[in-house]
Amino acid sequence: MSAPRAGTLAAKTEAGQYSCAGALQDQQSSADILRLREVSMRFGGVTAVSELDMSLPQGTIAGLIGPNGAGKTTVFNIITGFYTPTLGEVRFKDKNISGVAPHRICKQGIARTFQNIRLFSGMSALENVMVGGHLRQKSSWWMVPFQLPSVHREQRELREKSMLLLQALGLEKVAHQPAGSLPYGAQRRLEIARALATNPSLMLLDEPAAGMNPQESSELMRLIRRVRDDFDLTILLIEHDMKVVMGVCSHLWVLEYGICIASGDPASIRSNERVIKAYLGQEYRHNA
Ligand SMILES: Nc1ncnc2c1ncn2[C@@H]1O[C@H](COP(=O)(O)OP(=O)(O)OP(=O)(O)O)[C@@H](O)[C@H]1O
Ligand SMILES: [Mg+2]
Repeated sequence: MSAPRAGTLAAKTEAGQYSCAGALQDQQSSADILRLREVSMRFGGVTAVSELDMSLPQGTIAGLIGPNGAGKTTVFNIITGFYTPTLGEVRFKDKNISGVAPHRICKQGIARTFQNIRLFSGMSALENVMVGGHLRQKSSWWMVPFQLPSVHREQRELREKSMLLLQALGLEKVAHQPAGSLPYGAQRRLEIARALATNPSLMLLDEPAAGMNPQESSELMRLIRRVRDDFDLTILLIEHDMKVVMGVCSHLWVLEYGICIASGDPASIRSNERVIKAYLGQEYRHNA
């Protein structure tokens, strides 16, 4: 068993300033769409996530931040079923989903994008979105050769819905271009469109602004808010671009070495000494 890391006790005892559990317990309600309870993830001797508590109220846009290797993507992999937590429980809409297979979790309404874009690069943008939508279809692959009218109708509807999603993400003009040929920012938006096609109620975005220029990341902020409103979503995002994080998130969790060192609204996180030391840096305080 690995030794507890420095900070665990502080995180548990200094309620308010450093305590994630303390800050969150006040906000816990039946309107939470997602809850993590004492979730830990160990890989051999590495504790990637340690006793993490999170409660995400429905309809919020929240963020998970921290230095490289802090465990942020691991948290997404746990929530989406790519990893089964070593300890603890993940509840989505009040159902325990710890250890449930990724495709089942996706069907229950959690969609994600990936830190390293995972599109089918040789397929068109439209086809990529249609792949996401297939999860919601009733017809099975074996029905296709029988040319059933219901299958045709479903395919037509899927194509139309996918086009609407491309429009919503400003990608309709590149619908028939190969995904791999699109500029980086467009590929990131295409991943969001594909995730939306699965009809989620919770969307996890892993570094959606990575590789974007300042204008693209400003547009992304507007897009994230609009997508949340138009699709009635709750959004949890991981992001290193603090302008984006502080601009769109109403609540933040800060991880360091897998431990939640702070949790609160952007203003309290910005001025939190421990977060400044572990992640933001003094320069951020002066420039903020
Ligand atoms: N499948 C795995 N096997 C072994 N170790 C892993 C695995 N996945 C993650 N880790 C380790 O867990 C720790 C957290 O990694 P993670 O990718 O979650 O960090 P992160 O906060 O997303 O970092 P970044 O900001 O660089 O993306 C790292 O030490 C990483 O090497
Ligand atoms: Mg990561």
